[in-house]
Amino acid sequence: MTVEEIRVSSQWLDLREPADAAGRARDLVERVRRQLPPTGRRVIHDLACGSGSMGRWLAPLLPGPQLWVMHDRDGDLLDVAAANPPGPAADGADVIVELRRSDITQLRPEDLADASLITASALLDLMSGAQLAGLVDLCAGAGCPVMLTLSVVGRVAIEPADPLDTRVAAAFDAHQRRMTAGGRLLGPDAVAAATERFRRLGADVLLRASPWRLRAGEADLAAEWFSGWLGAACEQQLELTDEADAYARRRLAQARAGELAVTVDHADLLVLP
Ligand SMILES: C[S@@+](CC[C@H](N)C(=O)[O-])C[C@H]1O[C@@H](n2cnc3c(N)ncnc32)[C@H](O)[C@@H]1O
Repeated sequence: MTVEEIRVSSQWLDLREPADAAGRARDLVERVRRQLPPTGRRVIHDLACGSGSMGRWLAPLLPGPQLWVMHDRDGDLLDVAAANPPGPAADGADVIVELRRSDITQLRPEDLADASLITASALLDLMSGAQLAGLVDLCAGAGCPVMLTLSVVGRVAIEPADPLDTRVAAAFDAHQRRMTAGGRLLGPDAVAAATERFRRLGADVLLRASPWRLRAGEADLAAEWFSGWLGAACEQQLELTDEADAYARRRLAQARAGELAVTVDHADLLVLP
C-alpha cells in the first residue's frame, strides 16, 4: 500500500519554505538538542523530505557533525534537495546529505537503525490511518526522538471574511479526508491519530501550534495557497464551482492588493522515546 501518488511541485515547496520556517515551533529544537548523542555524528532521517526544507531549517540549529539521510519517492525533488543542501551545523561542524529514493511506507526497522533523530514535515495529513499507524510503529521502534512538523489541523481563518469561506473550508477538509486506493486519508485528523498511537506505545508527545500567518508580504504564497485550497474544495463538492469564479476573483484581487490575511493552522509534534 502506498500513500496516494500526489506530486508536489518544487516551486510550491520553494514558495512555502519561508512561511514553513516562520511557523515551525522553535522551542522543540531545544528539546531535540538535549536528546541527541553528546558526541559523534548525528544521523537524521528526514522522511518524505521533498526539496529538503526541513534540513535547511533544522541542521543549522543543531550542534555537531550531522548526516542527513533524505528519503522521498520523487526523484525530481531529491535532485532539488541535493542542489540545495543544509548549511553547516550550529557550531560550524559538517553537515552531509545522503539521498534515498524510497517509499517511506515500505521502510523496515533496519533502514532507520542508525537514527539519532527522525523528522518529517507536511506529511502526516497525506496518509491513511493504516499508513500512519505503520509509520508511528516504525518510528517508535527506532528509539530516538521523532519530530513531525507542519501537519494541517483543519482550521483556516481568512480576513476579511467572505460568506463562502465556511463552505469552502468544510469541502476542503472533506477532500483531505477523501477515500483513495490506499484507504481514507486522515487529513486534519492525522495529528490526533499520531499522538494517540505514540502515547499508547509509551512515548512522551509534545504538541505545539505552528501556524502559517500570511500577510501582505506573502501575497504570492497566499494567492497560490488560496487557489489550491479552492480547487480541492470544488473537486470535492462540484456545487461550489458555480460560485467559485466570482469568489476567486474577489479573493485574488484582495491578495494582490495586500488586503488578505490568512492563517492556516498547523501542528508540530515532538515524540520522545
Ligand atoms: C507536502 S510535501 C512536503 C515535503 C517536505 N517534507 C517539506 O516540508 O517541504 C510531501 C512530500 O511527501 C512525499 N511523499 C508522499 N508520500 C510518500 C511516500 N509514501 N514515500 C516517499 N515520499 C512520499 C512527496 O513526494 C512530497 O515530497
